[in-house]
Amino acid sequence: GERLDFRTSKQRLLVVANRLPVSAVRHGEDSWQLEMSVGGLVTALLGVKEFDTRWIGWAGVNVPDEIGQKALAKALDEKLMQRCIPVFLDEEVVHQYYNGYCNNILWPLFHYIGLPQEDRLATTRSFQSQFDAYKKANQLFADVVNEHYEEGDVVWCHDYHLMFLPKCLKERNSKMKVGWFLHTPFPSSEIHRMLPSRLELLRSVLAADLVGHFVSACTRILGLEGTPEGVEDQGKLTRIAAFPVGIDSERFIKALELPEVQDHMKVLKQRFAGRKVMLGVDRLDMIKGIPQKILAFEKFLEENPNWCNKVVLLQIAVPTRTDVPEYQKLTSQVHEIVGRINGRFGSLTAVPIHHLDRSLDFHELCALYAVTDVALVTSLRDGMNLVSYEYVACQESKKGVLILSEFAGAAQSLGAGAILVNPWNVTEVASSIGYALNMPADEREKRHHHNFKHVISHTAQEWAATFVSELNVTIVEAQLRTRQ
Ligand code: ADP
Ligand code: F6P
Repeated sequence: GERLDFRTSKQRLLVVANRLPVSAVRHGEDSWQLEMSVGGLVTALLGVKEFDTRWIGWAGVNVPDEIGQKALAKALDEKLMQRCIPVFLDEEVVHQYYNGYCNNILWPLFHYIGLPQEDRLATTRSFQSQFDAYKKANQLFADVVNEHYEEGDVVWCHDYHLMFLPKCLKERNSKMKVGWFLHTPFPSSEIHRMLPSRLELLRSVLAADLVGHFVSACTRILGLEGTPEGVEDQGKLTRIAAFPVGIDSERFIKALELPEVQDHMKVLKQRFAGRKVMLGVDRLDMIKGIPQKILAFEKFLEENPNWCNKVVLLQIAVPTRTDVPEYQKLTSQVHEIVGRINGRFGSLTAVPIHHLDRSLDFHELCALYAVTDVALVTSLRDGMNLVSYEYVACQESKKGVLILSEFAGAAQSLGAGAILVNPWNVTEVASSIGYALNMPADEREKRHHHNFKHVISHTAQEWAATFVSELNVTIVEAQLRTRQ
């Protein structure tokens, strides 16, 4: 029948995500400095503007005292962008829930890395206590949602941190409109079924009215029938559909005109005059394939000595989840490889790799995206990878080449314009680097044009509008069904 469209009215939207768009750093008893959080979730959600939004999440810091909590809540509320409401998690919960269950168990599993060795025996105490902390943290998020919920609100839960939340919310208020969206890949059922808490997690998510994806796990692990509408579990239908995320492309395109961005561009162009510049921008995460990328660059230099002083790789790798041992190991591994390659191929005046362990501010980042010749995105697995979108958005004048992993979600959307590579195949990536550096202008233009068209027409705004509209429609349809 006819589809209902709710996009015209200003809908109140409660976004619930583990991470707020800003993270707090304490300066004294009641004073806080707020810094932008880094990651695809924040980038996508910051692009969402047409709703009356409240954003509920963790400020990335432990605040045990009430004075500090009140001051932080106020500082967040005063922040211009969207209203932010903090969820306070104590140190032990953060350790077990965020470092443990989310980043040491779900993250590697969802990215096909598997479960960590010590947790392979599903019944170990550490696994169980981490799962308990996960559920406890999700309950704390639910408490804050309930405190701020008004009838008619859309509650949009995000990511693998909050798979238990739809259930917590629906148990307290079955009328609440609840959606859940996953920013990571959802692994095949053969992988997901390794997880000791596999049934409980899936069932909790299915308490939502609308879910981002994952039909195969529901059908294979829960044994449910998938239909074009979604899946039905114990008489309750959950609508399941795909909603590809995007960026606020206009924000990037407009930023390129700003004098401070132009200044950065000038400096960068002078600094690297006479050399081609390749760019990597990632959180320093094992799924980003940073060591593989750097080894492929080494192979390229090895095989093409004539390029040695003519190309540089800028790898900007912001540290992330630094309390998790796997991430600490990765940092030393990357430093070691970079040091070795620079020692091997560097000269007195230049080194082939500039590696920075830091984040860049938005203006610096736009300038870098705009002046570089090739972007190298070699994720071993990635939900979408918005860095690839950002690079394309900033390349209208230069028409640089995107080398993109076939294991990033973006390969589905930017595959025709990018050079797709298997990041595990160092030889293939090395030869793609050569191909990209030598690509004639007309081919670059054609490829870029294809991707640019996609990036500007599949934006974060569109993503959110479609998801929220679909959620509203789902609820109305469910009401109509029960009346029949
Ligand atoms: P993920 O969500 O796994 O971090 P995405 O590529 O989807 O991966 O999103 C990363 C976001 O974080 C992008 O918006 C990118 O601009 C930002 N980002 C990543 N690394 C840096 C960095 N070193 N400095 C500044 N921003 C960064
Ligand atoms: O989906 C990727 C993600 O988990 C996002 O939630 C977030 O953008 C990013 O990784 C950053 O991770 P964290 O919130 O752990 O710093």
